Amino acid sequence: MTPTSPLPPWPSTPPAHGGVVLRRAREDDLAMVRDLATDDYVPTIGTLPAHADDAEALAWIDRQHRRYDEGTGFSFAIADAETDTAVGQCGLWLSELEAGRATAGYSIAPADRGRGYAGDALTALTAFGWTLPGLFRIALYIEPWNTGSIRTAERAGYAREGLLRSHQEIAGTRRDMLLYAAVRP
Ligand SMILES: CC(C)(COP(=O)(O)OP(=O)(O)OC[C@H]1O[C@@H](n2cnc3c(N)ncnc32)[C@H](O)[C@@H]1OP(=O)(O)O)[C@@H](O)C(=O)NCCC(=O)NCCS
Repeated sequence: MTPTSPLPPWPSTPPAHGGVVLRRAREDDLAMVRDLATDDYVPTIGTLPAHADDAEALAWIDRQHRRYDEGTGFSFAIADAETDTAVGQCGLWLSELEAGRATAGYSIAPADRGRGYAGDALTALTAFGWTLPGLFRIALYIEPWNTGSIRTAERAGYAREGLLRSHQEIAGTRRDMLLYAAVRP
């Protein structure tokens, strides 16, 4: 955290829901980050190198800290609420906060999938979003094949708004994206 960030303050109480708590990434989250880097898809949608080694994973953790400082948004490690062990990462991205809009993203390490962590994390992240003054809308962009992410969005109360054809390039191919969004209750 730095007093120079243009964003609202880092939450004094870590956002939490169900089995997860959202906290700062730490260097001892390395094993989770290296597991995340073994996923075929995660490295294509962010800056984590595929099959990252220790140094690359630590550099990625450092970049997550800088997201807040540079005003990009809040990047949280998703941690198990009982053990505090990191199981994934999520972010609330706020470059359009002045217009009342954010986007969100989330990934769970392959070893920790299928236990409800993503649904709980997105629910906690979204509730945290509504504590930010001036934020009215959080959008998710999800590829149509990504059933796990679609179910995660729906579990967290997001509504499907449409299909954005040829919306962005991922791994060298233009991709359609489903648009999901939640609005301030
Ligand atoms: C998508 C992802 C985050 C799901 O994480 P997870 O912790 O396994 O998800 P959860 O256990 O919270 O499951 C949430 C819902 O999705 C369903 N689900 C999860 N993975 C699924 C899969 N591969 N196929 C079908 N349904 C799936 C669960 O059954 C659950 O549904 P329910 O609410 O009806 O019970 C995880 O697979 C991942 O990190 N994928 C790679 C990165 C990614 O795609 N991120 C999203 C980019 S838009």
